Amino acid sequence: MKRVSGLTAALFLTATVAAQADTLPPGPGRDMVAKACAQCHSADVVSAQRKTRADWADTVNQMVASGAQVSDADFDKVVSYLAVSFPAK
Ligand code: HEC
Repeated sequence: MKRVSGLTAALFLTATVAAQADTLPPGPGRDMVAKACAQCHSADVVSAQRKTRADWADTVNQMVASGAQVSDADFDKVVSYLAVSFPAK
């Protein structure tokens, strides 16, 4: 019984990790965001938000100030991906 529930937990974890990657829709910049923005929190924290481009730029600035690895060259690409994928309505 113990072994069965352990296996179930392992399968559940695998499914959870796959589901998290799926919360970021395809688009230019997706891989950058997946790499830079899912280290401290899950990608769900990002995909749950809806913001204007200016607000996403503020958010990315805040995250960079806290330690997110986004180079100056990548900054606009990351903000564009977020603004297109998770726009404020
Ligand atoms: C160094 C750790 C770290 C990295 C890397 C990081 N974050 Fe965060 N993020 C946090 C922490 C801590 C919080 C919760 C505190 C808060 O709400 O300000 C948070 C909260 C958030 C929130 C919810 C609050 C809000 O302002 O809407 C969003 C959205 C977010 N992060 C987006 C991002 C994006 C986009 C990236 C990639 C550019 C990123 N994060 C990378 C640490 C990080």
